Amino acid sequence: MWRVPESVYHIEDLYSVTSSHNLLEVNDLKKHFPIHKGMFKKTVGLVKAVDGVSFSIKEGETLGLVGESGCGKTTVGRMIMGAYRPTAGHIWFQPPNGSPKVDLASIDSAAMKPLRRYIQMVFQDPFASLNPRMTVREILAEPLIVNKILRGSELEDRVRQLIDLVGLRVSHLSRYPHAFSGGQRQRISIARALALYPKLLVADEPTSALDVSVQAQIVNLALEIQNRMGLAYLFISHDLGLVRHFSQRIVLMYVGRIVEYAPADPLFARPRHPYTEALMSNVPTTRRDLQGKKIILKGDPADPMNPPPGCPFHPRCQYAEDLCFLKEPSLVEIEPGHLVACHRAAGLNLTGCDALGCAI
Ligand SMILES: Nc1ncnc2c1ncn2[C@@H]1O[C@H](COP(=O)(O)OP(=O)(O)OP(=O)(O)O)[C@@H](O)[C@H]1O
Ligand code: SF4
Ligand SMILES: [Mg+2]
Repeated sequence: MWRVPESVYHIEDLYSVTSSHNLLEVNDLKKHFPIHKGMFKKTVGLVKAVDGVSFSIKEGETLGLVGESGCGKTTVGRMIMGAYRPTAGHIWFQPPNGSPKVDLASIDSAAMKPLRRYIQMVFQDPFASLNPRMTVREILAEPLIVNKILRGSELEDRVRQLIDLVGLRVSHLSRYPHAFSGGQRQRISIARALALYPKLLVADEPTSALDVSVQAQIVNLALEIQNRMGLAYLFISHDLGLVRHFSQRIVLMYVGRIVEYAPADPLFARPRHPYTEALMSNVPTTRRDLQGKKIILKGDPADPMNPPPGCPFHPRCQYAEDLCFLKEPSLVEIEPGHLVACHRAAGLNLTGCDALGCAI
């Protein structure tokens, strides 16, 4: 495993270690995008990209957010970052130093400005997110200068600490982004995200544009940084195996809603939603007798503009019964901390990754 140089850890005294306090609480969050048509831009429909999502992230915890393409993962991340204004709901954030918690969903941009440093984002495509006309030194220094945190020799020291922290060299600071590999560029993105001592990193598919071998390095780096700093992650991915590596708890989304939300161990031992079971069956297995025995989901995910009545998953569900066509299931706690939205959750005995021997 690649290791973060020990020399840099003393800088992170600002971080608290993992605790049971919620850093972020998302309550009934919605984002509905209006669809306009015609000369007068008449609203002809709503894309319910996120439709009533609730979860929390503790200090120092990783929450995995998983689901197929289009289920609303990035939209959730962008609302937390303040890039999208929610249609409804709350995003309670606990600032450091004991200040009262703040609803990011309702504050204006002036009130958001001092809080923005505590929540940073790492994107899927590190090249697109780095300014090609700035050197790495300028990229890392920029947030510290803009926020008036450091200047002069202290600024240079911090920039050097950051580059060291992500396993690159001081000699890299004078280069431009095009002179780096994809993995190195992602390291630079992570260093920039860490510049302002954030409390939460929203990582949106941070490794999916990278080679598999490089993915492992970035995952190790992120874990090392988290262990040392007590940083919390919202780790967004469609790859359940990767999320397992990272996360203490996992949220599964389907067409803008949560279908299952549980601590990682019980979830992988016994999923309670047929969608989770299907995703797990598609994680590569180490068991030869099970290879090729995947649950192939029929058709595409439902259209968030026009979801089917009843359970939105029913057209693809092998366990659907009459009630599923008529009534949408609510998200209920089936075991302590384990929530599921399925009429049949109590009666189904679904197979999880532990029994499948998932290679994760
Ligand atoms: N600005 C927008 N206007 C209208 N619809 C949007 C907008 N942004 C996202 N959507 C729609 O909202 C839904 C959720 O999109 P989102 O990008 O959050 O999905 P995702 O889970 O991140 O998908 P992926 O895994 O492909 O990144 C999709 O149907 C998408 O087309
Ligand atoms: S409610 Fe019915 S259709 Fe929906 S996941 Fe459960 S069994 Fe399948
Ligand atoms: Mg996305």
